[in-house]
Amino acid sequence: MSNALKDYLDFCQNRVETALDARLPSDKVLPQTLHKAMRYSVLDGGKRMRPMLTYATGKALGVSPDVLDGPACAVEFIHVYSLIHDDLPAMDDDDLRRGKATCHVAFDEATAILAGDALQALAFEVLANDPSINASAEARLKMITTLTRASGSQGMVGGQAIDLASVGTQLTLPELENMHIHKTGALIRASVNLAALAKTDMDPTIATKLDHYAKCIGLSFQVQDDILDEESDTATLGKTQGKDKDNNKPTYPALLGLAGAKQKALELHKLALENLSIFGPEADLLRDLSLYIIERNH
Ligand code: IPE
Ligand code: IPE
Ligand code: MG
Ligand code: MG
Ligand code: MG
Repeated sequence: MSNALKDYLDFCQNRVETALDARLPSDKVLPQTLHKAMRYSVLDGGKRMRPMLTYATGKALGVSPDVLDGPACAVEFIHVYSLIHDDLPAMDDDDLRRGKATCHVAFDEATAILAGDALQALAFEVLANDPSINASAEARLKMITTLTRASGSQGMVGGQAIDLASVGTQLTLPELENMHIHKTGALIRASVNLAALAKTDMDPTIATKLDHYAKCIGLSFQVQDDILDEESDTATLGKTQGKDKDNNKPTYPALLGLAGAKQKALELHKLALENLSIFGPEADLLRDLSLYIIERNH
């Protein structure tokens, strides 16, 4: 990882931790157990890749992080809700997440379902009302539309439905790609596009290039997640290694082999960089993030 990326990662992680904390209800507020569960799952964990992409896109476009805390938190709230539900016994049935007990294990299943539901609602409240966003009503509406579409039945939730329906089946490469683009790619794409929507005089050509970049890294992110499930270890991952095989999930390594999956990730990284060629050094963080996504070990 480059030094510039390491510094930026630290900066974003600190910034987003404070911003998330400030937007979550206190665990002193009723219903206390629900608020405790929300705070337990959101705070103090995770790579914060999606907020980082929002801030890094802002950097490429000259949009201040001050107006991006809201979108960065909104997308992380949706992401954490998706993880809480993904870990439930009815879905992947995992008991370890971000190095600690999953929400339904630390609390109970009903609380975990409700914590996810409440985080989803909170994400949209932030986009609708957060004063720091400082955007027109029209821009806010576009942000809300972007995140709802990325989250819903034709975005993340749709991808999760395909994932569950595919257990024990053999998907073709285009089918697998479609599943990954939805379950993981859609939110990553939204993380980038929300920053573009925060820019008042956004050039549509640049917006399209950024969207294509985001589509490439959204897919490479899940390809690498599949690779790590096969070749990493539980302590490094902070989640149980080998679950995809145990759960009979169709994955890139299962279809292409580990070498084939790594090749695919590299091709997507190259394609991502091509889409950034209209930018100068102001997009270097986005370039570094694309490489980090396929080289990370957790
Ligand atoms: C894990 O996402 C689930 C996927 C969508 C692949 P991350 O790898 O971003 O998880 P955290 O946020 O760092 O815990
Ligand atoms: C998760 O994919 C995608 C979402 C949570 C939307 P995985 O099921 O592969 O994620 P991990 O490996 O449990 O983090
Ligand atoms: Mg899953
Ligand atoms: Mg899972
Ligand atoms: Mg996985």
